[in-house]
Amino acid sequence: MAGREGLGISHPNIAFIKYWGKEASGENIPLNGSISQTLTELKTVTRVVCGEGGDMITYDGASFEKVDAKAEKVISIFRKMTGDSSPLKIITESNFPASCGLASSASGISALALALNDFYSASLPEEELSKISRAGSGSAARSIHKGIVHMQKDAARSVCHWPELRIFAVLVSGEKKKVGSTEGMQRTVATSSLFKQRQSSIGEKLEKMLLHVKGRDFEKFALLTMKDSNEMHACCMDSFPPVFYMNDRSREIVETVNNFNAGGIRLAYTFDAGPNAFIVTLQSTYSEAWGLFERKGFTLVAAL
Ligand code: PMV
Repeated sequence: MAGREGLGISHPNIAFIKYWGKEASGENIPLNGSISQTLTELKTVTRVVCGEGGDMITYDGASFEKVDAKAEKVISIFRKMTGDSSPLKIITESNFPASCGLASSASGISALALALNDFYSASLPEEELSKISRAGSGSAARSIHKGIVHMQKDAARSVCHWPELRIFAVLVSGEKKKVGSTEGMQRTVATSSLFKQRQSSIGEKLEKMLLHVKGRDFEKFALLTMKDSNEMHACCMDSFPPVFYMNDRSREIVETVNNFNAGGIRLAYTFDAGPNAFIVTLQSTYSEAWGLFERKGFTLVAAL
């Protein structure tokens, strides 16, 4: 079957209500729902061709290496489904730095699922591809869908589009995080009492967020986004041993946003499991916000 090829293109996403905590099944089933935006300016393009020996992968033109466990989980689902176990060569390229908190695993895993769907001519619906992506990385399930996406325990779906919404990343560190999200979540679920409180109110928060995004109420949306990011990071700090993802530069970003918002909320910050921020705003404030962070010497990446 030499000459066969599959292509998948996908994007990272940033959560406004975070997924933090998963069931113990090993299948990345989230303990709570989440709401995200797919970041279409950031892109991963993945090609799958027939390989030799074992499964190999190359990132951004670097030399081939063995496929990691997350990607192997996704591959094994397609193998079981198709009965085709021939080795694969995976060529993947992203237009943004990998492993620096820009949700590269969501983008990479979902692009791989799409490329395998093409390679095996499986023609699976988005719903199925989203579930397969979740097996590799929980947040990857959201990247299969465009716009604002609501992920529940069993599935993720696009709920609406907000065309005026604009997002850029503020990079403060390219270092690989010391505590991965799976380990961080496990620590939080096992030890944080604040997390239990979060779980009891998250249903209500999700409802509110859906109302704010559908009603395009930026002020309420932005405030809830910032508070949810704060709460996730507070749960990380409340874990034992504590997990710190944000650093002094991250806190400087929080302060910059709060000072800017003194006369009314026009910006939101949100942080995933890392020190880099995403700044969320509306088209009308975008260039002012970009200039503000540029003047402070941060490296910025346009995301939406
Ligand atoms: O799917 P993972 O393992 O990358 O976990 C994602 C966790 C957060 O990015 C912190 C929150 C989220 O909902 O994306």
